[in-house]
Amino acid sequence: MCRPNPSKSTGKTGVFVSTLTKQPTVRAELPDGTTVELRPIQPEDKDLMLEGFERLSPRGRFMRFMAPTSRLTPTQLKYFSELDFHDHVAWGVTSGADPVAVGRFVRYEHDETAADVAVAVVDDFQRRGIGKLMCQVLAASARARGIGLLHFDVLAENTAMLGLLESLGGVRVSGGEIVHLVLDVAKVGAPPIVEGDLLALLEEATQRAAGR
Ligand SMILES: CC(C)(COP(=O)(O)OP(=O)(O)OC[C@H]1O[C@@H](n2cnc3c(N)ncnc32)[C@H](O)[C@@H]1OP(=O)(O)O)[C@@H](O)C(=O)NCCC(=O)NCCS
Repeated sequence: MCRPNPSKSTGKTGVFVSTLTKQPTVRAELPDGTTVELRPIQPEDKDLMLEGFERLSPRGRFMRFMAPTSRLTPTQLKYFSELDFHDHVAWGVTSGADPVAVGRFVRYEHDETAADVAVAVVDDFQRRGIGKLMCQVLAASARARGIGLLHFDVLAENTAMLGLLESLGGVRVSGGEIVHLVLDVAKVGAPPIVEGDLLALLEEATQRAAGR
């Protein structure tokens, strides 16, 4: 099902372009030695996001949205893809042409040093290290945006997300049906980027967003 990663270097330092999406991208290596591509979500990615949503099981959607969710509304799609990359940052992961994950943080209005996070990996690509990679990428992006703490609301039955966060050093601050965890970005290791410059790509996306 997975197609090869058809990316090529443009020859410019730290800039790699996916021949499929034509977008600057970075490449990260998973524990099994395969690679995936990561790039800041753009307004043009709405169709790719819909495709990724379709590949998330009903349970996965429930874990992500904490409610039965059969489709993304146009308002949600706009909110999820038209970002400023300062207060709202999101990265998409692809494997070849397959959309496989999205992760985002939104800065708290009442505390500019903290942000709320959501991550989703499509079912076929789970348990391969992509959730962990996404948290590392979000932590690195948060640091670059002056955010020190990432907050997560996770359903108590979501053992995968709870396991992932605890493996990264996340701390439970309240429990119940929804567990609230906090992750200190300083404790999170660097993402395993093997090609491209993550923060340069974040800067470029920020500038592009400011010009829209
Ligand atoms: C939660 C989620 C993001 C995890 O992504 P993933 O790519 O499967 O996770 P990873 O492969 O990076 O796992 C990293 C670590 O997390 C823990 N983990 C992941 N899945 C787990 C599971 N099903 N059960 C227990 N621990 C799990 C393990 O410690 C794992 O390390 P290991 O594989 O070396 O044991 C993914 O299952 C998902 O998208 N679920 C649906 C949406 C969702 O729940 N989003 C979270 C809302 S905030």
